[in-house]
Amino acid sequence: MDELDTLIHLNDRWLSRRDAAMDIEDRGVLFADGAYEVLRIYAGNAYLLDRHLARLKRSLEGLRFPPLGLDHLQDVTLELARRNHWPDARIYWQVTRGAAMRHRRMPDTATPSCMVMGWPDQPLDRPLMPKRLRVILQPDCRWSRCWIKSLMLLDNVLAYDEARTRGADDAIYERDGRLTEATAANLFIVRHGRITTPPADSFILRGITRDRIIELAQEANLTVREQTIQPTDLFQADEVFLTGTTTHVAAVTHVEDRPIAAGEVGPITQRLSESLESDIAAQCNVMDTPATRSAGT
Ligand code: PDD
Repeated sequence: MDELDTLIHLNDRWLSRRDAAMDIEDRGVLFADGAYEVLRIYAGNAYLLDRHLARLKRSLEGLRFPPLGLDHLQDVTLELARRNHWPDARIYWQVTRGAAMRHRRMPDTATPSCMVMGWPDQPLDRPLMPKRLRVILQPDCRWSRCWIKSLMLLDNVLAYDEARTRGADDAIYERDGRLTEATAANLFIVRHGRITTPPADSFILRGITRDRIIELAQEANLTVREQTIQPTDLFQADEVFLTGTTTHVAAVTHVEDRPIAAGEVGPITQRLSESLESDIAAQCNVMDTPATRSAGT
């Protein structure tokens, strides 16, 4: 199917992408004045949708949006996947402040715009082997309200581009001697069996996957500390991994061309990747995955 034929949901209307249009004076276009979420559908069911909805509401509060009724996003999300015949999909929610004459002043009268679109994705029917990533370090030049999932992603785009240009897969941000996160994923390190991730302060996006991985690790009696991480900690770590909705759990095997430990996927990274897969399968009722198959044998 042509991508332009896929259905999207824009301001309470179902439209093909071809027919969808936004006002050129929408403040989302002019000022990146808005927030977004990316979530996943597995076997027709959304994973941790309520947490994504809660974070979107927090982000919009942080941007001083008036309270908006957004609970319909729950049904629209499932309906979007159903109408497009996508049992497995990545879903994008975007709320912008709406159209108003271009000015720094926040408009009193603009009507916020709400859009839901998506892309078909791979089903969870094969082992979710952690990806192996080579990363570089980059100065974190973003604003200091990174807890808001704002549309303003230019620094993430630049840092990611620098990584790709240098033959790496992603960049880990460094701010004032501390590592914050990657360009679209959260950072974890493991040393002597103990897991550390930076605290959920205003310098990182508090990932839904991050929080779930912390819970899953604790359920498996692993120790998790929320503490600042410095570049030297990275090079002394036994394992480094990233988490995110599109990343799942990915092993960082090299930083600036230096291997982390043996430069392989570590055992805790592997274990947490499997825990995440089992959790997705259980919550989304995915019947046939390597995790459910081995549980049945
Ligand atoms: N981004 N940190 C940043 C800067 C992110 O952009 C993301 C996710 C994460 C991980 O958050 P979560 O586990 O809730 O996906 C951390 C999405 C996937 C994106 O921009 O496409």
